[in-house]
Amino acid sequence: MVDVPIYDKDGLMLRNFTKADVHAFSEISKREKERYANPGITQYNDTVDAERTVQAGIESIAPDPETGRRETISLVIAERATPEIALGYIGLNPRNGRKYLGYSIDPRKQGKGYGFRAARLFLEHHFASSGDPVYADAFKGNEASLKILERLGATTVQGDWKRPLPVSGIKDPYAPMELTADKFHAAMSSSRSAENRHGKYEALKAQSSSKEETKSRPIPVSTRGLSHLTK
Ligand SMILES: CC(C)(COP(=O)(O)OP(=O)(O)OC[C@H]1O[C@@H](n2cnc3c(N)ncnc32)[C@H](O)[C@@H]1OP(=O)(O)O)[C@@H](O)C(=O)NCCC(=O)NCCS
Repeated sequence: MVDVPIYDKDGLMLRNFTKADVHAFSEISKREKERYANPGITQYNDTVDAERTVQAGIESIAPDPETGRRETISLVIAERATPEIALGYIGLNPRNGRKYLGYSIDPRKQGKGYGFRAARLFLEHHFASSGDPVYADAFKGNEASLKILERLGATTVQGDWKRPLPVSGIKDPYAPMELTADKFHAAMSSSRSAENRHGKYEALKAQSSSKEETKSRPIPVSTRGLSHLTK
């Protein structure tokens, strides 16, 4: 992993934890609990857990004294313009010889693309410096997380669905998903071409509508149908 902070082109940042993040993470915990009414699903059960999360995050930046490698890493997700406001966290934890990806977004900020962008940024940097594949436990009911993992190129490790659940209170089966550098880069390049194709289509549409406009002025201007662009 490279040095942090790191940024994506749209101003998302991943930075180290600081002691000042405890408050934000205990608030995230409370809201997670209210939302799911199931403490088993949340990573931060109370302020004590939030303090542990933050402390582990602070310590995770130090390399292992024996191997010199960073086995565990945990970073805060924030906007470049407001770095002090923690939106969530993302990190890697070693387990049974595999590196497991974990992330969580403040429930008030979910559904706005932060989860996907943070994971993409994190993995770009992970795969730039390491060939190690990344794993994630994907619960069947966790649609948002499954969508993120699939968009990133992760695939289910065959035959592992329906193993006994490690987290109390969650009934859904889960499977480890695996993401290699090759799968990640292939998924990112196909999503870039899709964006480019879409961009070209939009440009062509704009071009053709401006031609039509020249032919048959005046054109009534309508903003109907654009509301999905302003979320
Ligand atoms: C999983 C989580 C990090 C997703 O973060 P997010 O910022 O809300 O996700 P995004 O806005 O980037 O959305 C990712 C995709 O999920 C979809 N999505 C978002 N919320 C959703 C929901 N509640 N139900 C179904 N789909 C949802 C989005 O539309 C998007 O799909 P698309 O790529 O087809 O457009 C967030 O829901 C969370 O913190 N959950 C609790 C912790 C957790 O489950 N961590 C993962 C453990 S594996």
